Amino acid sequence: VTPMILYVFDNYKGNRADEYNTNRLIGLALKQYTDDHGLAPLSSTDITTICRTSKGKPFIENLPIHFSVSHSEHQWVCLVGPNESGIDIQKNHHVNYEAISRRFYSQEEQQAVLKGGLDTFIALWCRKEAFIKYFGMTMGETMEWLNVARNGEPVNQIEHDGIIIKFTDLRVSHDYQCVAATRTKEQIWIKKLQID
Ligand SMILES: CC(C)(COP(=O)(O)OP(=O)(O)OC[C@H]1O[C@@H](n2cnc3c(N)ncnc32)[C@H](O)[C@@H]1OP(=O)(O)O)[C@@H](O)C(=O)NCCC(=O)NCCS
Repeated sequence: VTPMILYVFDNYKGNRADEYNTNRLIGLALKQYTDDHGLAPLSSTDITTICRTSKGKPFIENLPIHFSVSHSEHQWVCLVGPNESGIDIQKNHHVNYEAISRRFYSQEEQQAVLKGGLDTFIALWCRKEAFIKYFGMTMGETMEWLNVARNGEPVNQIEHDGIIIKFTDLRVSHDYQCVAATRTKEQIWIKKLQID
C-alpha cells in the first residue's frame, strides 16, 4: 500500500503574491511524493503542465498520481495519492455561521450546527468542499442536495450516485479544520512541504 500524503505549506501568501503559487507548490508536492515513496521521478514537463477543468479542478494528464489542493489564510495543503481525492482546509473564523447555515445548509446540517456551533459549522463546510473537489464540481451545483450531517453530527461517509465517499478529519494546525474525501478509508500522513 502507498499511503496518501498531505503536504502542508504554512507560509502561503496567495497566488499572485510571490513565487509560491499553487502551480509551483503542486510541482514541489508531487516531487516530494515520488521521493517519499521511492517512485520514479516525474518529468519536468509533467510537473509544469498542470491543466484545469472548466470548473477549476487542477490535474495532470496521464499521470498515475492524483492530487487535490486547498488553502485558507497562510495554510496551503495538497493531498497526493494513487487515487482521486478531495481536500479542504478552513480557518476557524468567527463568521456569522448561524445566518450562513440558514441560507446554505440542509435541515439536518442546520440542526447539527444548532447543537455543535462554529466547530460543527466548519466541519460540515470542509466536508462539502472536500466532496465537491473530489468530483470536480462547484458549490453552486451541489447546494440543493448535498447533505453531510446525520443525527446532529457531521457524517463520516456519504453515498452519491452509488459511490461511497469517506471523510477523514486531519489535524494540520490548531485553529484550522481539514477534511479529506476519498473512495476508501485511507491512511493519510501529514508532512511539511520542503521548500528549497
Ligand atoms: C470548488 C470550490 C468549492 C473551491 O472553493 P475555494 O474556496 O476556492 O476552495 P479552496 O481555497 O479550499 O481551494 C482552492 C483550490 O481548489 C482547487 N479547485 C478549484 N476549483 C475546483 C474544483 N471545481 N474541483 C476541484 N478542485 C478545485 C484549485 O486548485 C484551487 O486552488 P488555486 O485557485 O490556488 O488553484 C468553489 O470555489 C467553487 O464552487 N468554485 C466553482 C467556481 C465556478 O463556479 N466556476 C465556474 C465554472 S462552472
